[in-house]
Amino acid sequence: MKNFAVIGNPISHSLSPEMHNAAILDLGIDAHYTRKRLSIEQFDTEFPLFLEKIEGCNVTVPFKERVIPFLDELDDFARKCGAVNTIVRRNSKWVGYNTDGLGYLLGLTEKRALHKNDHVLLIGAGGASKGIYLALKEKVGCQVTVANRTIQKAAEMIRDFENDRAISLDMAEEELGSFTIVIQTTSIGLPKTIDETPISLHHLKPGTICSDIIYNPAKTLFLKEAEKRQAIIQNGLPMFIHQGALAFRLWTGQKPSTDVMKKAVLASL
Ligand code: ATR
Repeated sequence: MKNFAVIGNPISHSLSPEMHNAAILDLGIDAHYTRKRLSIEQFDTEFPLFLEKIEGCNVTVPFKERVIPFLDELDDFARKCGAVNTIVRRNSKWVGYNTDGLGYLLGLTEKRALHKNDHVLLIGAGGASKGIYLALKEKVGCQVTVANRTIQKAAEMIRDFENDRAISLDMAEEELGSFTIVIQTTSIGLPKTIDETPISLHHLKPGTICSDIIYNPAKTLFLKEAEKRQAIIQNGLPMFIHQGALAFRLWTGQKPSTDVMKKAVLASL
């Protein structure tokens, strides 16, 4: 039997095991997927030992960058992101991938396809935002403005793309009416900050697509405020399912049913 897992800290909230085990069962594969909490302090000792026991894993906060020195190869997209969310054992070599960005785009197409003339506001400049930014640039080629509390991190992200801008959260509030899509990637809205939004949405135009990468809670305050202003809203569930489905294909070579995966996640929420 092949063993797969998701590593992170904390990790008990992750629904990746439910999602992947449903797909494993559906396809009749001899495998099992678990969650594994690794120590932040002892990561460098624990992670290599853990790798000996598995065929592949997902990586979540706060280890998406810390796993990189332990891998033999990085695929091009993961290297450019500087973050890995999927690790695969290939002929006794460990290869790192990042399926977050493409997973996000596939999820968004459930609302509508993005075009070159879309203008995206990306709020946040952390690990998740980087993957989405790169997917937007490489797969869509639209203009992206990145707003972040620490503006320097946003400036760093856009440095290879001269038409893009890095702005403050205050500026994002003022300019909100000029974007066709607004993507919320910060941790604001998670249980500890459930009654907060990263920016106020007073200037949001009706019909703007507003998406939050958080899926639990299903509707963050950001999405509730957007809905009040007649925006088209989407939470992080489609991204979660699609990044998982892409990872599953990398490990098994088989295409899982996203419907089966989604049902398993919804049943566990
Ligand atoms: P992830 O890998 O999940 O994206 P991360 O790399 O820690 O997590 O990034 C978290 C993002 O949320 C960052 O953009 C962070 O802003 P800073 O770069 O200024 O730290 C943003 N964030 C977290 N808490 C915030 C807060 N209270 N107000 C505004 N932005 C916040």
